[in-house]
Amino acid sequence: MSRAAPFVLHWGIISTGGIAAAFVKDLVLPPEGRGVSDVSHAIVAVGSRSSDKAQQFIREKCPEGGCAQKAGLSQTVPVAYGSYAEVYSDPEHLEELICNTILTQPACLNQAEFKVLSDFSKSKNLFLMEAVWTRFFPLTFTLEKALFEQQVIGEIRRLVSDFSIDFVDIVTEENRLLNIDLAGGGLLDLGPYPLFWALLLLYNHPENKQTPPEKIQASMRKYERTGVDLHTSWTLDFPRIGKVGARAILSTSIGVNGCRDAVTRIQGTKGEIIMPWATARPESFTIRHSKVGRGPQDYTEEVCKFPIQGTGLNWEADAIARDIRGKPGTLDMDY
Ligand SMILES: NC(=O)c1ccc[n+]([C@@H]2O[C@H](COP(=O)([O-])OP(=O)(O)OC[C@H]3O[C@@H](n4cnc5c(N)ncnc54)[C@H](OP(=O)(O)O)[C@@H]3O)[C@@H](O)[C@H]2O)c1
Repeated sequence: MSRAAPFVLHWGIISTGGIAAAFVKDLVLPPEGRGVSDVSHAIVAVGSRSSDKAQQFIREKCPEGGCAQKAGLSQTVPVAYGSYAEVYSDPEHLEELICNTILTQPACLNQAEFKVLSDFSKSKNLFLMEAVWTRFFPLTFTLEKALFEQQVIGEIRRLVSDFSIDFVDIVTEENRLLNIDLAGGGLLDLGPYPLFWALLLLYNHPENKQTPPEKIQASMRKYERTGVDLHTSWTLDFPRIGKVGARAILSTSIGVNGCRDAVTRIQGTKGEIIMPWATARPESFTIRHSKVGRGPQDYTEEVCKFPIQGTGLNWEADAIARDIRGKPGTLDMDY
């Protein structure tokens, strides 16, 4: 029996920065390499504030297009544009490009900005998504099952997560991470990831029923030379989980590096789960099974590994393709 041809999603890329490059490199990788055969990706347009940069980007990152073009599933070739607006008017893919948008996180600088986009998308029935790629990792789905269905560490009581990278000593003050005019600082760039684990595992915990945290406490220290945030820490309380509730203790910094071995720790009554670097892109988690008891307990350890193809942005791209193939705006799964 012949298999149905994969659905091909056509992508327009806005800007030629670091994350756009990583995303495009992942769109070029063969889906079979991550066990995917139902969807594929074509890159049809790249827009930059400079046409030269857009051309160079295509030359270097995707001269033959995405994996669909390389596999002969699409006859299109990527076109370079010297503005972002032109990408949305690419004549061949006008409808697809204009209807569906994903924005790298943070999608906007604040809730009010996002509401404008969200209201607009809803009013026109368009697809809009903040690209929280970690959500789509196989590791993430397995972790949810382990904690919610198998309850491998008993009741979750505390989640500690940090994402920190020393930029202060590495980049210039013009760089977007230190530049206040480019919304620099750790909170918007790195902060979404510790928060992601708290939302996934505590806010989304079946016993919490997506009830907002009872109390949010936060403290921030600025990098005084430019005014961006240097160290930020915050806590969220979810009192409906288990016997005593669960607390998330989250932090981010652009003044120090996180550690390699344990950036996220989920602690329960019967053990804990440890995730190594990077908070946004863990390749494994370790379950430490122990008994209820006073003080540190002996444990047996189980390591669950999840190899990542490329950067790992492609699982998110696959999920979006499946959604757009089906019923745009309603992701197949309850994300
Ligand atoms: N997985 C994720 O979702 C993820 C991962 C990492 C970073 N991010 C986020 O993605 C965003 C971009 O990060 P990045 O590392 O790609 O940054 P980057 O390398 O500095 O690239 C930013 C791009 O934005 C465009 N741009 C538009 N107006 C600009 C301006 N006034 N000044 C400078 N650049 C301007 C530029 O593209 P052109 O010159 O081509 O127009 C530039 O290449 C950040 O908000 C970051 O937090 C998301």
